[in-house]
Amino acid sequence: MTTDKLIWPARLHHIHLTSGNVPDMVKWYQDSMGLTAEELGNGATWMSGKDRNLLIGPGPKSGLKFSAFAVENRDHLTRLRARAEETGTPVETSPTPLFGDGAFAVRDPDGNCITLGIPDRQSSRGNGPAGMLSGRLQHVVVASTDAPRMIAFYSDILGFRKSDLVREEKSGEITACFMRCDPEHHAIAVFRAAENRLDHHCYETTSWNDIRDWGDHFSERRDTVVWGAGRHGAGHNLFIFVRDPDGNNVELSAEIDDVPYEQAPGTWRHEERTLNLWGSAWLRS
Ligand SMILES: [Fe+2]
Repeated sequence: MTTDKLIWPARLHHIHLTSGNVPDMVKWYQDSMGLTAEELGNGATWMSGKDRNLLIGPGPKSGLKFSAFAVENRDHLTRLRARAEETGTPVETSPTPLFGDGAFAVRDPDGNCITLGIPDRQSSRGNGPAGMLSGRLQHVVVASTDAPRMIAFYSDILGFRKSDLVREEKSGEITACFMRCDPEHHAIAVFRAAENRLDHHCYETTSWNDIRDWGDHFSERRDTVVWGAGRHGAGHNLFIFVRDPDGNNVELSAEIDDVPYEQAPGTWRHEERTLNLWGSAWLRS
C-alpha cells in the first residue's frame, strides 16, 4: 500500500486539552471562544459551537491528550487502519466520545495520540456573542525535539502532504514542517523546539473582517492579543493569537492558502519573516 491519497481528505475535528484548572478553562472557552459546555460524564467537558469542537478534561496543564481527525467514511478508515498495521504502527482504541464505530488511534514518535474517525454527534449552536463569530477548528501544531522523525511519521505512515518546510540556511536542518490532509495548507505542523509539547491550535475564519470582530470581542473580554495582527509567510494566513487561562496559544486565522494535492513542498528560511511577513515572530528554536 502506498500513502497516495491515504489520509486525504480529512480535517481536524477536535482536540482534547488537559488542565489542572478545568473550571477556568471551560469558562474561558465558553465566554471568549463562544462555545457551549456539556459534561460527558467521563471526566471530559465537550465544548462546541460554530464549526468548532474541543474536549477539556483533568490532567497536566497544557496537555494535548489527543488530536482527532475526521475522515471521509468507513472505507477510508479501513484503508488507514490497514496502513497502520502494514507499517507495524500499534493501533489503539479511539479515546474520543465524539467519533462513532470504527474509529481508532495511533501515536506519533513523541507519543502524541492521533485518533481517526467519523463524528457522530451534532455540535451545539455556540454560546453568547462569540458564538456568532466564524472560526472553524482548523489546525494544531506540536513542538518536538525530533522534528524530522515526527514529519516522517505524518507523511510516510498517515500520508499527510508536506506543504512547506522551514530550514536553517547554513545547515539545511528542518526547523518546521506544515502538512495538509485536504487542500488547506496545513492541518498539522511540527516545530523544532527544546521540548515536546503543544504549541498552539487555530480557528479559521472567513475573512479579515472576522479577525477584526474577534479582536474587538477579545478587547471587550480583556483578553490580550499576544501576537499579531500579522500574516504568516508559510500558508499566507492572517492571524492574531490570544492565550487561554493555562497559557495555551490560541490562533484566529483567515485566508490560509489552498494547496493542490500534487504540489511539491515549498522551502522557507528559518527567520522571523517566514512566520510573520509583517513584523516580529516567535522563533521556537
Ligand atoms: Fe497556526
